[in-house]
Amino acid sequence: MKKKQNTEKFEFQRILAPLLSWYRANKRRLPWRENPTPYRVWVSEIMLQQTRVEAVKEYYRRFLEALPNVEALAECEEEKLLKLWEGLGYYSRVRNMQKAAKLLVTTYGGEFPRDPRELRSLPGIGSYTAGAIASIAFGLPVAAVDGNVFRVASRLEENGSVISDPAYRRYLEESLSAAYPESGKDCADFTQSLFELGALICKPNPDCGACPLTGLCRAYQSGTQRAFPVLPEKKAKRVEDVFVFLLQTPSGFCIRRRESGVLKGMNEFPSHVSFGESPESVLAAWGITEFEEVRRKEYTHIFTHIRWNITCIWVRTDSAPFDTYGLDELAESVSLPTAFKQCLGILDRTDCAR
Ligand code: ADE
Repeated sequence: MKKKQNTEKFEFQRILAPLLSWYRANKRRLPWRENPTPYRVWVSEIMLQQTRVEAVKEYYRRFLEALPNVEALAECEEEKLLKLWEGLGYYSRVRNMQKAAKLLVTTYGGEFPRDPRELRSLPGIGSYTAGAIASIAFGLPVAAVDGNVFRVASRLEENGSVISDPAYRRYLEESLSAAYPESGKDCADFTQSLFELGALICKPNPDCGACPLTGLCRAYQSGTQRAFPVLPEKKAKRVEDVFVFLLQTPSGFCIRRRESGVLKGMNEFPSHVSFGESPESVLAAWGITEFEEVRRKEYTHIFTHIRWNITCIWVRTDSAPFDTYGLDELAESVSLPTAFKQCLGILDRTDCAR
């Protein structure tokens, strides 16, 4: 017989006390948890939306060392900023951070507003980031719902809504926010404790034996943990065949700015989405007719909506239709998205000298 779903309203407030004591005994020491100023929380949360905690640590350290406050971020030269973000992906996020920093300096005297609605009006700050800043840095009762929190909350109440449904997000933000204490450190810790439970215990493959909330968790009690959260259907990615040319000239390797499409505005090794053209015809269109092909290698790169099948071709030529950089300069001061940076694997330095 199919078990009847529990339709009674779930009281999120009941998880507060057990979750806070579990968090205080089990939390990881993470750099952004020390001295959680709004700026430090903001930077960490944007980075944590992109990659794993372990990978963020070094990016976070370097970023804060180079740009310790809103003013420094507002004034940072674009290429330096992109270099600090290199490898994290979603470069529009760091560009938006700089736009927001400029607004904070010009309109808010360099201080973050406390009101979550005002925070959300800043470029790149949505309800999740606003909730994290408001609760962790200002100790306000505002939830921050990310993938971890959806997983924890949907299991607790066996909520079968799809997490991409904006109505479910709003519902969860409201019901969780209502469960927060009035203000102060407990608000900060409640937000962090939900992240932490999702990261350490209530994982996709959960470790329910160590969970402080099993007595309250409806999914645990009916053995349905793995059915939650309900994720949106995955769309098939568009596949593109792309030539990436490592054009080695006497003055270095060619780099240019992408003018359109994915990674618009970023540096690249000159590339071309191919619809059956030959590499020679692409080179000819750039005025390169005399060249020596050294080697080619295939790579793939996966973006959110596109898969690139890359044929990277290392070519030596005397003409340089784009700006050129030496390998050391490339490594030190030119930002290159991972899709292109991986192509450097085709080179070996002994062969590179000419
Ligand atoms: N994931 C998202 N935000 C986090 C945080 N502040 N600490 C650890 N993991 C997180």
